[in-house]
Amino acid sequence: MTTYTLRKASAEKVRTDVVVIGITAGKAGALVAAPGGEAVAAAYGRTFAPLLASLGFSGTFGDIAKVPTNGHVKAAQLLVVGLGDTGAVTTEKVRRAAGIAARNLGNAASVALALPAAEAVEIRAVVEGFTSGLYRFEAFKSGEGRGRVAEVVVISDGARRADAIAALELGRLLAEVTGQARDWVNTPPNALVPLQFATEIRTAVENSAVSFELVTAAQLRKLGAGGILGVGMGSENPPCLVKLTWRPDDAVGSVALVGKGITYDSGGLTIKPGGSMAHMKSDMAGAAAVTAAIRAIAALELPVAVTAYLPLAENMISGTAMRPGDVLTSLSGRTIEVFNTDAEGRLVLADALTMAVRDEPDVILNVATLTGPCVVALGDRIAGLFGDDTTVAEVEAAAERTGELFWHLPIPPEQRSTVRTASKVADLLQHDWVRWGSALYAAAFLEVFVEDVPWAHFDIAGPAWNGGGPWGHVPSGATGFSISTLVDLVSARAHS
Ligand code: BES
Ligand code: MN
Ligand code: ZN
Repeated sequence: MTTYTLRKASAEKVRTDVVVIGITAGKAGALVAAPGGEAVAAAYGRTFAPLLASLGFSGTFGDIAKVPTNGHVKAAQLLVVGLGDTGAVTTEKVRRAAGIAARNLGNAASVALALPAAEAVEIRAVVEGFTSGLYRFEAFKSGEGRGRVAEVVVISDGARRADAIAALELGRLLAEVTGQARDWVNTPPNALVPLQFATEIRTAVENSAVSFELVTAAQLRKLGAGGILGVGMGSENPPCLVKLTWRPDDAVGSVALVGKGITYDSGGLTIKPGGSMAHMKSDMAGAAAVTAAIRAIAALELPVAVTAYLPLAENMISGTAMRPGDVLTSLSGRTIEVFNTDAEGRLVLADALTMAVRDEPDVILNVATLTGPCVVALGDRIAGLFGDDTTVAEVEAAAERTGELFWHLPIPPEQRSTVRTASKVADLLQHDWVRWGSALYAAAFLEVFVEDVPWAHFDIAGPAWNGGGPWGHVPSGATGFSISTLVDLVSARAHS
């Protein structure tokens, strides 16, 4: 366990193993201590900038140097992180710099963070970024895990303000639920089949105000949820749906969260090539993110009623697998002609969206690792964002505050029409073999099932998983993308 304290103190007097400050690059490359780090720089005096320069440190964003303290300050070691241009330090840079610091602590047991943290949003960013950056997934490594920092002191002039304390708590809470979501996404698919995932979710919400309901495969059959059942049909591990609810007494409105929970996506009979299958354990990142978000929303006691719908299934091949050409009857009663068993996400989401619509929420937010083409379009750090203009604007406003990147994409009228008219045998055509704009086609398909409820759909196929090395506060592997934006959006509704 790591303890966090917020302290109004002078950074050069704190006796931790490490003290972290930010350094910016001013005119002509002059190194300038960022807010929060001035006292440390002053303690070194005029030799400080030349010392940093001699270590090859230039102050560009993400640059890092470990500096001996030699009695200049009370901490045993100084870690400086580059924050880039002096005039352009943003909250997001602070969040990322805190994450970079977390990964460069060595084996320190205690650390003081003297990064820019005068404002509550910065305190949140420091704590969220740092804790998020500390994340490691070692559950399947033999031997003892590496030690973790035990004590974190966040230095802020606003330390005694109520909003500062709340910001620290929010940062910790978000990092905690995000860590849990990342663990699930990183867990190998043989250890997290649908019912195991459901059990994990049940345990995670057990001693909280979130209630848990499991809709089993047998119950899905009675209901007529042909989309979820169709996808789950090829697997030995039956599908299910988890429904989570947070019902505050003083609710000012209601939000439905829907998260894609494919515990493994082999593609089914439309099988994926080997390389594309390798990290398909992450295909339940939407369900993990939505679960994390509702946990945080309940812990914060936000006065908005929230329900999460998580269709969980494994997309496999076998003699009982769904075939291209099959027609499924969705929960809504609409029939769907399946053309590509690898476009399974929209099939399970169709039923979950229908369940959400039947509960009459004010808005539906759908989160899914839905399409590779969205990654082709936007890369792996930006999510595709679809929906009605009002809801899209609301998501963009929340994302502006959390630093997550979304890009609004259109649903073209021709694709809307293809979905509804191109099947010769069923009501809807699941997949169009025309390759262009497949992320948009998927959104057009989902849109059928949201009826007239305001909605947004996040295609997180790219940013849910970091296939490269860590950057900023984002680790390699599962990222937890969209959790903070979901929580922020609901928080904004609660306070409006
Ligand atoms: N789970 C995949 C999407 C995905 C791809 C997630 C890459 C993360 C990284 C989804 O079920 C899928 O297979 N989509 C198809 C879409 C196609 C049929 C339009 C794909 O990516 O090829
Ligand atoms: Mn697929
Ligand atoms: Zn998938």
